Amino acid sequence: MASGAGERGNSRATRHIAAGVKAWREEGPACIAHRGGLALAPENTLASFANAVKLGCKWAELDVRASRDGALAVIHDSTVDRTTNGTGAVAELSLRQLKKLDAGLKFSRRFAGQRIPTLDQVLRAVRGKLNMLVEIKAKNIERQVVASLRKTRMDTSAVVICFDPEVLVRFKQVASDLPTGLLLSLRAPKEPGPLVALARRLRACCIMPSHEGVTKEFVEKAQAAGLLVSTWTVNDPGRMEALLDLGVDGIGTDRPDVLLKILARRRRRA
Ligand code: G3P
Ligand code: CA
Repeated sequence: MASGAGERGNSRATRHIAAGVKAWREEGPACIAHRGGLALAPENTLASFANAVKLGCKWAELDVRASRDGALAVIHDSTVDRTTNGTGAVAELSLRQLKKLDAGLKFSRRFAGQRIPTLDQVLRAVRGKLNMLVEIKAKNIERQVVASLRKTRMDTSAVVICFDPEVLVRFKQVASDLPTGLLLSLRAPKEPGPLVALARRLRACCIMPSHEGVTKEFVEKAQAAGLLVSTWTVNDPGRMEALLDLGVDGIGTDRPDVLLKILARRRRRA
């Protein structure tokens, strides 16, 4: 499109996302409960997200896949084997079959009866309580994810993240106004320039390296380009402190209880 409504729409979307980045930065580093905080409650269940709220988290992360009949299910692995009492590929089971499985029992008897939630269910449960990182783990579900975010009115409280740049391109084609984050499976590279440029090209607001190898230079270069830097997955308190010293904007952790204490202590000292 050469000019007109499309461009105006895009610049509105850009301003809207920039305001979100500013608000996140002003709020200070985010404690992101990874899969709801998987060391404390069964991952990606309503119980884990409720626990994140109870602890005082403002952010949590989830993973989304599609069932055989096209429902969006919140589950990390491509199969149900590790986290439930069932077996089989998520993509080959219907929502009805997924819903019969127990997603709490393997974590602890205390959580027996927890189910694999749909994306709508999680978003409805956390609305007004948590901001969400929604990680797309399956192909061709971008439109449905947008529909779920809009329907549950979580579109202003979520960042959609993915390791696959192609997914983020398609996501922006469906919803240019929704913020996205580029996950990096590699250690943060010594020369951050090319990945920062890629994140910018994708119109992502956030770059998300694995915590190993994150350097001051990486953080500064990405932030100078207008990106938030949020890293994953950090459970060691010493490493949390080191990353906060480097100035990261967010840390994904299985132990949000530990990181929240560190953040509170640092706020008191500031
Ligand atoms: O938030 C990013 C992190 O969740 C990516 O790794 O395997 O836990 O989905 P994974
Ligand atoms: Ca994830």
